[in-house]
Amino acid sequence: MKIVSIYPHPMDDQYRHDHNVTMIKNKEIYSYEEAKLKGSKNDDASSFPIRSIFMGFKQLKITPRNIDFWVFPTPSKKINYKIYKFFFVDFFKSTSEKNLKRFLKEKVIFVKHHEAHVYTGFFSSNFEQSDIISIDGGGDMGDERRMLWGNINNKNRKLFKKYGETFNSAGLGVGAYHNHLTDLLGFYDNNGKTSGLASYGKLNKKLYKNLKKLFIYNWSKNNIKFSNKRSKSNERFSEIKIHNFEAKKYLKTSPVKSELSIICKNFKPQDIAKTGEILLQDLTIEMIGKFFKNSKAKNLICVGGLFNNVALNNFISKKSGYKKTFFSMSPGDSGLSLGMALYLKKMKGKIKSNLSNGECGINPFLGPSFNEKEIEEILINSKIKYKKISSYKKLNSIIVNKIIKGKIVGLFRDRAEFGPRSLGARSILADPRNIKSKHRVNQFIKRRDWFMPYAPSVIDENFKDYFGHQGKSQYMQLTQKVSKKFLKIAPAACHVDGTSRSQIVIKKNNHKYHDLIKKFGDKTGCYSLLNTSFNRHGIATISSPKQAIEHLLDGTVEILILNNFIIELENNRKLHKRFKNEIYLSEKSLLKKFEKNF
Ligand SMILES: [Fe+2]
Repeated sequence: MKIVSIYPHPMDDQYRHDHNVTMIKNKEIYSYEEAKLKGSKNDDASSFPIRSIFMGFKQLKITPRNIDFWVFPTPSKKINYKIYKFFFVDFFKSTSEKNLKRFLKEKVIFVKHHEAHVYTGFFSSNFEQSDIISIDGGGDMGDERRMLWGNINNKNRKLFKKYGETFNSAGLGVGAYHNHLTDLLGFYDNNGKTSGLASYGKLNKKLYKNLKKLFIYNWSKNNIKFSNKRSKSNERFSEIKIHNFEAKKYLKTSPVKSELSIICKNFKPQDIAKTGEILLQDLTIEMIGKFFKNSKAKNLICVGGLFNNVALNNFISKKSGYKKTFFSMSPGDSGLSLGMALYLKKMKGKIKSNLSNGECGINPFLGPSFNEKEIEEILINSKIKYKKISSYKKLNSIIVNKIIKGKIVGLFRDRAEFGPRSLGARSILADPRNIKSKHRVNQFIKRRDWFMPYAPSVIDENFKDYFGHQGKSQYMQLTQKVSKKFLKIAPAACHVDGTSRSQIVIKKNNHKYHDLIKKFGDKTGCYSLLNTSFNRHGIATISSPKQAIEHLLDGTVEILILNNFIIELENNRKLHKRFKNEIYLSEKSLLKKFEKNF
């Protein structure tokens, strides 16, 4: 059976973000985000993710003519027949005009936004039955809800049993609260930065009490409502940088006067972030407790954009009272096409059980790959000096030696990751044993915010030794308390608050990356590498070999691996003096500077 699912609906004209595509051919899955292929961080202008659709046809070797089902989210309004004709008859030539009516009736299926979140979470978990909650900023115009919760069971024909839902008309929710907090701190819509900064702050009880006053509780209607009256946005169109364009950066730029900003006045930004995050955690756990108070389920799955927040996930996994909790590789809207496609496959009786590989979920390497011939052609055309290594094992030994010498390595190998984290296929790697690695990657190479944490990749066999029996994720969706042992051997991969957002690397899911970390461990005693996404600050994770070469020449990495090819920066570009005489600013001085500018 061949399925194509696209989020958002490609013929609906609502303004959406996180365009993504999933294709299924029998047991093979392709899932990818359009923003990665376009190079922009948030591809919220186009409604037709053409690149990720075409790359899927290439990856799975299928054509629009032999697709059995097309799955879209429920659109905001009825789509004009002429538009469907253009899409299926004129553009993709999937059917003839004569058969279009029947085609639309039999082959085009719709799934609502929050149900799609639910299915992404459920099918990528290893649970056969689970309570499940979906929370985001407010669905889309085809599904104007901000929360949905219930129970899902693989054995039930209907799969999902709804317990409750909250519509956007009931007011803003906790997702919007976190967005407003992020906007207030000057991070536009990058909620992860609020969580990153929170680690440098302290809980302020007075601020907590006042922030809580912005919420109205109505448990009879299953609702917590957030209110924050804001003045007009403070637009900064003169600052547009078209090479790393983010619309919201220029529209929602703080400072904006609001109830929230008045409450937060005179507090340090890191304390606002910390206190705000703690309130978010308390409110979310309170809701989960109320919504599932009569449930006897042992498992809980959390999906929706809110659960991109790793500290929140960790809090839930510890405090929810469930035996097991699961957070998917792509909880936000960029994961919706996967849920829609898997739902359809299940409904057609083609999935007997979930797709996870053991306790840690589905293999995340669902994106596109490039073959040797394609890569070598690009290298030759770019007039790049490179070497081809005969096997990945030999290449891994070379990479290990480079990392030990302090080099920053860009690893671009095989199929790309689906979801917001880089997991060893489109990753930047460094030596976690040396704290200097963190500063080098932050301040000189990647040029990202100094307060954002770095994550370690740890092979599954050593996880227990480093983190004991704490929860683990192969998607970096949980944090762990760092042990003395791990802090000693991998200080650059530990965050200032004593936590680590580790990725466990499972041999059968990621054998080349597993071999690399194993080799590094055998030489150094540290079975872990510092891993961050392969991109410079401000753009999406890269997706093409050409972009990888551009990043190398731009100085984002010092060594580049493209499948079996190795390319070195110093062999291809004369380095600026600044790279040779590196001076790092301490986190303390950077924090002082940040406070001053807030
Ligand atoms: Fe969503």
